[in-house]
Amino acid sequence: MRYAVLLASMATTLLAAPTLTRDTMAWTPTLAGYFDVVYSYIQQARATGGSPPACDLSKAAMPIAPTPLPTPDGLKLVHVAIGRGVQNYTCANSTATPAAVGAIAKFYNASCVASDYPDLLDLIPTVALSYPVPSGADSPLEPSDLGLSSHHFFSNTTTPVFSFDVSSGPQLGRVTAQKTNDSVAPSNAPVGVNGQGNGAVPWLYLKSRSTTVGDIKAIYRLSTAGGSPPPSCADQPSTISVDYSAVYWFWE
Ligand SMILES: *[C@@H]1O[C@H](CO)[C@@H](O)[C@H](O)[C@H]1NC(C)=O
Ligand SMILES: *[C@@H]1O[C@H](CO)[C@@H](O)[C@H](O)[C@H]1NC(C)=O
Ligand SMILES: *[C@@H]1O[C@H](CO)[C@@H](O)[C@H](O)[C@H]1NC(C)=O
Ligand SMILES: *[C@@H]1O[C@H](CO)[C@@H](O)[C@H](O)[C@H]1NC(C)=O
Ligand SMILES: *[C@@H]1O[C@H](CO)[C@@H](O)[C@H](O)[C@H]1NC(C)=O
Repeated sequence: MRYAVLLASMATTLLAAPTLTRDTMAWTPTLAGYFDVVYSYIQQARATGGSPPACDLSKAAMPIAPTPLPTPDGLKLVHVAIGRGVQNYTCANSTATPAAVGAIAKFYNASCVASDYPDLLDLIPTVALSYPVPSGADSPLEPSDLGLSSHHFFSNTTTPVFSFDVSSGPQLGRVTAQKTNDSVAPSNAPVGVNGQGNGAVPWLYLKSRSTTVGDIKAIYRLSTAGGSPPPSCADQPSTISVDYSAVYWFWE
């Protein structure tokens, strides 16, 4: 019985929409790798009789950036989310370099994946990039069934905002943040949609500004996929939106 519950829960949490995958998408090594890991977790659950995910965030560990970011000393991990959206840039003229002007993304609750299925966590941004940004307000993140937890946007070109404004979730507030430190993404990070693009955006360490509502003090953007602009504005429109995904870690 418990095993059936677990399989059902893993199936809905991690394996939703396999037919959509087959019908509308190329079967890539990335997708195959993702479903291999999902399958190995199901096998493991079968072997151990299957207990539901504990979702204990004290068990979750952040990957280390190529240039290590400051550690969240004295803080407690309260949420892990997959972000899926676009990074925006503007081009002043054809000889300029694209300038970052913000981003907009939907965030999906991956706290239980981070604590219970860590091998899957870093694969999800790559896989999520193969699917469009979910359009419905309540649509889960394909091909997982992770639910919406928050929204990410910018209040001006240097101020990222993270808003826990989803009524069904716990109210973790509204963070107005400040980029404090960064690292290049690992050299094998996914460059963009379908392996085409200009690279994965940097990994970041962001601190809360004093205008933050709630107790979140630090946010990490890690395991990035895509999002970087073309190297120059030659032949580019005046505004550019580049698809990206990443794992975000929230600390109080
Ligand atoms: C980024 O973090 C590293 C390691 O903590 C530190 O040495 C460096 O000075 C930081 N850079 C900035 C701009 O804060
Ligand atoms: C192109 O835009 C850049 C950035 O705004 C500016 O510094 C540069 O002077 C502009 N060049 C021309 C030819 O207008
Ligand atoms: C980014 O561009 C998208 C269109 O691709 C737009 O809907 C969004 O408002 C822009 N957001 C920011 C912060 O520039
Ligand atoms: C952007 O917003 C931040 C936080 O509200 C503020 O400190 C900063 O001065 C603003 N920058 C610009 C260019 O408006
Ligand atoms: C994320 O999901 C877990 C498990 O269902 C839940 O306990 C937690 O409140 C959710 N967090 C947010 C911010 O939605």
